[in-house]
Amino acid sequence: MPQSFEYDVLIIGSGAAGLTVALNLPAHLRVGVISKADITSGATLWAQGGIAAVLDSDDSLEAHAADTLAAGGGLCHDDAVRYTVENAADSIRWLIDSGVQFTRDENEQLHLTREGGHSHRRIIHAADATGNAVSTTLSEQAASRANIDLLSRRVAVDLITNRKLELPGNRCVGAYILNLDTGHVELFRARFTVVATGGASKAYRYTTNPDGASGDGIAMAWRAGCRVSNMEFNQFHPTCLYHPHAKSFLISEAVRGEGGLLKLPDGSRFMDRFDKRGELAPRDIVARAIDHEMKRLGADHLYLDISHKPADFIREHFPTIYEKCLGFGIDITREPIPVVPAAHYTCGGVITDERARTDINQLYAVGEAAFTGLHGANRMASNSLLECLVYGRAAAADITRRESDIPSPPPAPDWDESQVRDSDEDVVISHNWDELRHFMWDYVGIVRTTKRLQRAKHRVDLLAREIGEFYSNYRVSNDLLELRNLVTVSDLIICSALQRKESRGLHFTLDYPGLQNEPEDTVLVPTTYRIASP
Ligand code: FAD
Ligand code: SIN
Repeated sequence: MPQSFEYDVLIIGSGAAGLTVALNLPAHLRVGVISKADITSGATLWAQGGIAAVLDSDDSLEAHAADTLAAGGGLCHDDAVRYTVENAADSIRWLIDSGVQFTRDENEQLHLTREGGHSHRRIIHAADATGNAVSTTLSEQAASRANIDLLSRRVAVDLITNRKLELPGNRCVGAYILNLDTGHVELFRARFTVVATGGASKAYRYTTNPDGASGDGIAMAWRAGCRVSNMEFNQFHPTCLYHPHAKSFLISEAVRGEGGLLKLPDGSRFMDRFDKRGELAPRDIVARAIDHEMKRLGADHLYLDISHKPADFIREHFPTIYEKCLGFGIDITREPIPVVPAAHYTCGGVITDERARTDINQLYAVGEAAFTGLHGANRMASNSLLECLVYGRAAAADITRRESDIPSPPPAPDWDESQVRDSDEDVVISHNWDELRHFMWDYVGIVRTTKRLQRAKHRVDLLAREIGEFYSNYRVSNDLLELRNLVTVSDLIICSALQRKESRGLHFTLDYPGLQNEPEDTVLVPTTYRIASP
């Protein structure tokens, strides 16, 4: 028999965003944090470069804000940018107080590195494995709190709302969650629910993201009735390791920040032809330049070279990258690293306000799943973990302020499995999964055209119908749920891209190469905007 649970706060996702919310809630609230794999399994664990914050007296909040706005191509929301940069230093102090060990210089000061788009050294980091330090420390902290239950191998299927229960009001009251160990879908009721499920870069064939970045929270919130914004701005990181056996391994932008140079196969540099900031131009520009040169030369990769720096410096600053590349026979202290761009980050997401509230009462969204307005048309490096921290703390503060006014959730029915059976054709899932990620890469990638987007739309509509039918007839599995969500977020990406009749930031289309006069967000509204998704 499936179990059922009741919490004050249900947090779906245990990355930097979810754990920041959990750890900033008062001890009298019962908190359930769920993760579809291990507690440390999201993108957070993989983060390399670091976290941006103004901690140096030569730097300023104005400069951090101005760099963020410039990288964002005119679409960042001023208030979100200001709020984030102003709360950055406090968030870093909270991480240090929580036990995260950041790299320090010989004077025991925090070492600041640099990345694309930043006019100052302002990236706080733990060598080249910042995410690992953050993720392991925060999950250890959460495990030690008596009021927090960490529940792994549980996959949220859908949010439960008053609308779904045919009750008056616009409230979220929990979620249905698949327990991967028992195969049963469990009922989780909660006074507050937080979506902290990360991004959707698995929609693309090549990505820096770990398995699981299938946009589940964005798709669930959309189905529940939340607006989403700016989904066309999927960021491609310029430098992912190119090697037949290397799956999704990022070569941090900090390598370029510390002097790494991008090179063509003949060893010549090319970035100066595209932007006067060269290798340290914002990511959209660098990724597009690499894509352009690869297509021009018919090359399957280009190179990132830091071998001109002393070997000890490289090993000290980039121990993870050094070891990983060495494992593939590439000694980065002596030779250039083969690199290609890959899907990296979802700039759009569920629309939230400064307190991380969504369109549905008692439902919050935080981290890569959320759209706060901070990133605009292109996220600046190391502003993502920062956003998880700043808005995670804001969500926790808002829940704390309101919790005494919010009653227990109403009763909700158990998950109904009476009409479904076990799948006898899982090949439908694996085939459609491959097909989707293939055409998203080919038609909705770094350079787009209206015709390519229309082709993608046609295919995603077919997949949506097929997966919708499959979902109605068969018992749910993690693969089926991820595919269902990927189809939805891909549809949202394609529809948003088709709506934008200009090239801005990460959205570049040959049919509209210029900018529109007025920068505008793309906002999709579930009640008025029909997509075919399951
Ligand atoms: P995640 O850390 O991705 O966590 C998502 C959580 O949700 C996981 O626990 C997952 O199991 C859970 N989940 C998802 N779906 C479900 C579901 N249906 N049911 C239950 N649980 C679910 N940003 C920076 O600022 N600096 C960096 O240096 C940096 N480096 C990066 C390097 C790499 C290789 C990658 C991939 C990203 C990097 N980023 C960096 C981006 C940054 O790491 C992510 O944007 C950020 O960690 C997202 O945190 P999150 O908490 O929103 O989501
Ligand atoms: C990197 O280290 O290059 C990733 C930084 C980021 O995505 O912000």
